[in-house]
Amino acid sequence: MSVAIVTGAGGLVGAEAAAYFAGAGHHVVGIDNDMRREFFGEDATTRPSVERLRRALGNLYEHHDIDIRDEAGIGKIFERYSDEISLVIHTAAQPSHDWAARAPIVDFTVNANGTLVVVDQGYTGADPALDAADHGIRLEVVKLNEAKRGFVLLPRR
Ligand SMILES: NC(=O)c1ccc[n+]([C@@H]2O[C@H](COP(=O)([O-])OP(=O)(O)OC[C@H]3O[C@@H](n4cnc5c(N)ncnc54)[C@H](O)[C@@H]3O)[C@@H](O)[C@H]2O)c1
Repeated sequence: MSVAIVTGAGGLVGAEAAAYFAGAGHHVVGIDNDMRREFFGEDATTRPSVERLRRALGNLYEHHDIDIRDEAGIGKIFERYSDEISLVIHTAAQPSHDWAARAPIVDFTVNANGTLVVVDQGYTGADPALDAADHGIRLEVVKLNEAKRGFVLLPRR
């Protein structure tokens, strides 16, 4: 089974990505805790969007109502699918500059810390470097001691 993990799956970009990759034959694991409702009010809830995905994609879609800052919860999903994960699309975010100015700490923890939690799950071995080499790019994988499995890819020409 090929698994696509989509964070922010109930949002504008995430819902399109989930539908696209399910259509391409992946089992889509969506992560979204409806924080959009907390940011922008009841009308902005992502519940209808997640319901649409469930109805349209059936068994190809699985939803997890987890906060991307929840390292243990996110870690369990990545451990469960492990080598079956083909791709990760990370779109869970607080997307408004104006809102960020009102609550910068919440904005930072979601957009920066949450991204770090997701990235720290994702080392995929040598494949990205081999793919990049086909296009004349040398990818250097940098792993920090304090990271669990995370990495930074430095492209070099
Ligand atoms: N929509 C665009 O045209 C556009 C353009 C350029 C960049 N972007 C960027 O793409 C990203 C996604 O944008 P979007 O328009 O899809 O936003 P969106 O608000 O529609 O979707 C984000 C989703 O993330 C979820 N989410 C927020 N915090 C979460 C958390 N802590 N845990 C789990 N889920 C959480 C929300 O509930 C929401 O469903 C943002 O970083 C945005 O800045 C969007």
